[in-house]
Amino acid sequence: MADPTRTTYDEVLYPSHTHSQTHPDRLATIATLFGMRPAPVDGCRVLELGCGNGGNLIPMAFGLPTSEFVGIDLAARPLAQGQAAVEALGLKNLSLRQGNILEVSADAGPFDYIIAHWIYSWVPPAVREKILAICRGHLAPQGVAFVSYNAYPGSHLRDMVRQMMLFHVRGFSDPQERVNQAVALTKFLAESQTNPDVYRQFMKDALEEILEHEEGHLFHDELAEINAPIYFHQFYQHARRHDLQYLGEADYFEMQNHQFTPEVCQALEQLSNSRIAREQYLDFLKCRRFRQSLLCHAEVPLDLTSKPELLTRFQFSSVARPVSQAPDIHSATIEQFQGKKAASMETDFPLAKAAMLILGEVWPQALQFSELVARSRARLGVRGPLGEAKDDPEARALCEILLKSYGTGMVELHTHAPPYATQVSQRPVASPLARWQVQQGDFVTSQFHISIKVEDEIGRYLLSWLDGTLDRKGIMNKLWRLLESKNALVIPDGDETTARREVEQQLERNLWKLARLGLLVG
Ligand SMILES: C[S@@+](CC[C@H](N)C(=O)[O-])C[C@H]1O[C@@H](n2cnc3c(N)ncnc32)[C@H](O)[C@@H]1O
Repeated sequence: MADPTRTTYDEVLYPSHTHSQTHPDRLATIATLFGMRPAPVDGCRVLELGCGNGGNLIPMAFGLPTSEFVGIDLAARPLAQGQAAVEALGLKNLSLRQGNILEVSADAGPFDYIIAHWIYSWVPPAVREKILAICRGHLAPQGVAFVSYNAYPGSHLRDMVRQMMLFHVRGFSDPQERVNQAVALTKFLAESQTNPDVYRQFMKDALEEILEHEEGHLFHDELAEINAPIYFHQFYQHARRHDLQYLGEADYFEMQNHQFTPEVCQALEQLSNSRIAREQYLDFLKCRRFRQSLLCHAEVPLDLTSKPELLTRFQFSSVARPVSQAPDIHSATIEQFQGKKAASMETDFPLAKAAMLILGEVWPQALQFSELVARSRARLGVRGPLGEAKDDPEARALCEILLKSYGTGMVELHTHAPPYATQVSQRPVASPLARWQVQQGDFVTSQFHISIKVEDEIGRYLLSWLDGTLDRKGIMNKLWRLLESKNALVIPDGDETTARREVEQQLERNLWKLARLGLLVG
């Protein structure tokens, strides 16, 4: 007889990874920018609703041993998997509990941060109500809740494909068959289009997206019985009914309009007489289909005016690199910097140019504002301290540029810096969490709470060897033996010395890559 307590998440495991946008550091950053006084990241309590196998909470708890974490989920199988990880890693600050969100008791809180990621749109209305009721009832006075959901208007597009897939798989109950059939239908529809019209492009994009999905995501997200998107203004009203207010988006750049022309931005400001309306019109402009909104108690006074001087409280990091080989930071020449994906910024302000240059050089290290300013001024050959951002125009201009750069994703802000190694030491140490994760599967978590897929076998071995006991020679010997055993050594003309040198150089490059990914701690 079928077990009535077994859920679809027991049947097909959901691929749970880390989500840096849910990390307390991110929530504290946005809260601080909007005038709140959030709990310190290294001394907070965090609740995750629908935590699955703890893929998000386990690395958080590992990285923040002085904070406390609670995860709740209905499905026993992923939780058991998570519990095994908690025990293997000896985590004392994470409790994974099996239970229904509907039954979370009133005395469970308070929590400084509550996370409900990938759940609100996929549960019945009563559970949606309860998620927001828990946010209201269990958040500390300065607490922040993260709630993600499928949003309109973009979800109308996604729903079109979903409905066709659901019709096609209606006769199949086996999960794998449902996934296979859904992919097959989308492929068939995409490849059958001959007219060079909008529909052909749309189906081509839909297929690409579906092929990128992990199968568990397709099964649980697109083929789920419930998948109920809403407009942002409806979500806002829902939050208000629970005495919660909209704080912002977890991704600050999602609140910006920089990809539009000045005319569009002006129209947007005129059209929208409130922040909520502006956000809604932004969704129309961007055809947004997913939101990651932050909420706090309705009575918390927020300061929504832009306050660049607040930036002096943060630590900064940036992967950005100058486009020019020899950037001129001294004059008023415009220099361009390139960040992740398509992000870029340009400035003619010497202090900002020096700051961007330094951040790119020290990445992944994060620098306090005062440290960043001191190093930038030293690079420019300027002596003496910079004034306060509220009354020194130069300091204020730097803060403004950094805030704008945060909005375009060029610069990251942090309230807390995890431990990590910025150099490759004589006896490198990879994060113990990553070393453990690499024994279990393909994904490891960086010190910055980012999931990284380790695809090659050599990379996996390398990570697992870095426990601080081996020096370069020791690592090199292991690597050489491994390559030999795999018949992967290329020794041109029997010249082993040259081959060794090449492997050594490759090893050095890979160790530096691990450091820049935030996977080394010593
Ligand atoms: C789509 S998964 C998201 C997992 C995780 N939050 C993530 O981002 O990877 C949704 C999770 O919510 C859980 N869930 C659904 N309804 C629930 C309920 N009423 N009470 C507790 N957990 C529930 C499921 O078991 C599943 O693990």
